[in-house]
Amino acid sequence: MSTKLIKLITILVISIQASCLYADGGDPARGRILAEKDCADCHGDDGLGDYDRPPIAGMNPQKHLKELMDYKTGKRVDENDDMDVADLTVQDMVDLAAYYATLPPPAKKK
Ligand code: HEC
Repeated sequence: MSTKLIKLITILVISIQASCLYADGGDPARGRILAEKDCADCHGDDGLGDYDRPPIAGMNPQKHLKELMDYKTGKRVDENDDMDVADLTVQDMVDLAAYYATLPPPAKKK
């Protein structure tokens, strides 16, 4: 099989898996443990990011999951390779999205 086809099938399978898991709802408590271990160093304990890391607190979980999936499948490329999502399972990403959705979003800029 061509690598392109394998990649396409992989993307398809994890997309279907993601939408099924998403329908079940993520587990924010589990997401929090993952976030403290894997994400807080860059995005902050509050998920508000800093001068060169975007805020992810209060993000719509569906959008959050999509962005993580896009990094995972290579659809979205982070030039500095900061976003290391290779080890995250789909369940991890669903739980992370559920957790960050519980945090207050950044104050709107006036
Ligand atoms: C080494 C630093 C670093 C770590 C660790 C990290 N991130 Fe990021 N994250 C970034 C940077 C830098 C960007 C912006 C990259 C880009 O330009 O695409 C980003 C972008 C994102 C985005 C897209 C935001 C948007 O507005 O589109 C999401 C969602 C995200 N990160 C979630 C996470 C989650 C969840 C984790 C933990 C599994 C994590 N990040 C770990 C640095 C990091």
